[in-house]
Amino acid sequence: MDKYIIKGNKRLKGSIKISGSKNAALPLISAAILTSGVTRLHNVPDLKDISTMLKVIEVLGAKYNFNTEKNELEIDATTIKTHIAPYELVKTMRASIYVLGPLLARIGKANVSLPGGCAIGPRPVNLHTSAMEKLGAKIKFEDGFIKARARKLKGSEIIFEKISVGATANAIMAAVLAHGTTVIKNAALEPEIEELIKFLNKMGAKISGENTDTITIKGVNKLKPIKYKVMPDRIEAGTYLIAGIITHSKITLIDVVAEHIEALIKELERMGVKLLIKNNSITIKKTKNLNSIDIKTMPYPGFPTDLQAPITPLLAVTKGISVVNETIFENRFMHIPELNRMGADIEINNNIAIIRGGKKLTGTTVMASDLRAGAALVIAGLAAAHETVIERIYHIDRGYEKLEEKLRNIGANIQRISGGK
Ligand code: UD1
Repeated sequence: MDKYIIKGNKRLKGSIKISGSKNAALPLISAAILTSGVTRLHNVPDLKDISTMLKVIEVLGAKYNFNTEKNELEIDATTIKTHIAPYELVKTMRASIYVLGPLLARIGKANVSLPGGCAIGPRPVNLHTSAMEKLGAKIKFEDGFIKARARKLKGSEIIFEKISVGATANAIMAAVLAHGTTVIKNAALEPEIEELIKFLNKMGAKISGENTDTITIKGVNKLKPIKYKVMPDRIEAGTYLIAGIITHSKITLIDVVAEHIEALIKELERMGVKLLIKNNSITIKKTKNLNSIDIKTMPYPGFPTDLQAPITPLLAVTKGISVVNETIFENRFMHIPELNRMGADIEINNNIAIIRGGKKLTGTTVMASDLRAGAALVIAGLAAAHETVIERIYHIDRGYEKLEEKLRNIGANIQRISGGK
């Protein structure tokens, strides 16, 4: 398994171009199977999670051509030959469940393996399956699979008892070809949902209510394949912004939509960080004498759970006591024992982390337990004295395109050591 070696405590200089959004691209790839013909996606990040989703749609019968140099992806979903998304793929990426809605809409049946456990908590699928039932599908849980059947989906009212990005996306993708009108209430407001709506509307869907928690979908008979550019990755942008601040580096992020990370920007400004925000770039201006803050993760437009781990090392080195309340996922503090081993002083009490800040971090060997926990360790390693070795970086490869190249370009000392199997 590959690892990173980071020699930290170094100021960085220059700019980082933000890649296309992983979490936006994943549902767009599965939505491509709603139509026959060739869908063309631009700005698709070359990542492990993307190749997993491509394998899933390939198993179903779609063909694709991914030019990773140009980040251009062509998907031809003219033929869908099976309705089975197997365990081997789903277990490696939970977002494989995104094919449930499109398969039901396109061919009226879907067997999607249950994703199983994962490092950040149990992650159930009840919201996905109950939405499909509302649209008229019959659901069975059998042999480790969600088995869904529907001759023709019918528009309906779906009221989510809890906000879920994935279930909102699945419900939208299922409803676009349903007979009649669907209204989704308590829908997720994440920018990735807005992106999916824009994409589907360009394909000929009739969806309104983007940016609100009530989405209305008038079913259409057919969608057409289109060309579309994926929006920038807000979590990648937030990660590099924090990496720049913790290393006191006046770096610039390019191709970033500041509005998508407004919750992070507000918290950073509350800490005393000064940023120069332009059309599609953000430059760090001041990073000294910061204050501690309290953070609570919330659905969008609140503070994103995906940036909770990355901001923790910054709070660990910032004077004062900060409190982080993780309200979205259980067990999303796996990075904290590792940060403590690097010199942080953080106590966990259920879903609350109490950070006694102002500590100096020192490199040691640590282990990434999931994607964002891995990003937190990279950030800590960049700030830490001496050498940090991060193991199990395959988690980081799932979601950060060319991470070491991007960081090396701004002067970081980071190396990947290939460890074979
Ligand atoms: C997506 C993102 C992930 C992010 C998360 C929350 C993708 C590929 N992943 O994940 O990076 O951290 O949103 O912003 O876009 N839940 C249920 N039943 C369900 C589904 C979810 O109870 O059927 C719960 C989850 O356990 C969690 C909460 O709902 O507590 C929110 O999860 P959800 O928004 O569904 O996350 P994902 O879509 O899986």
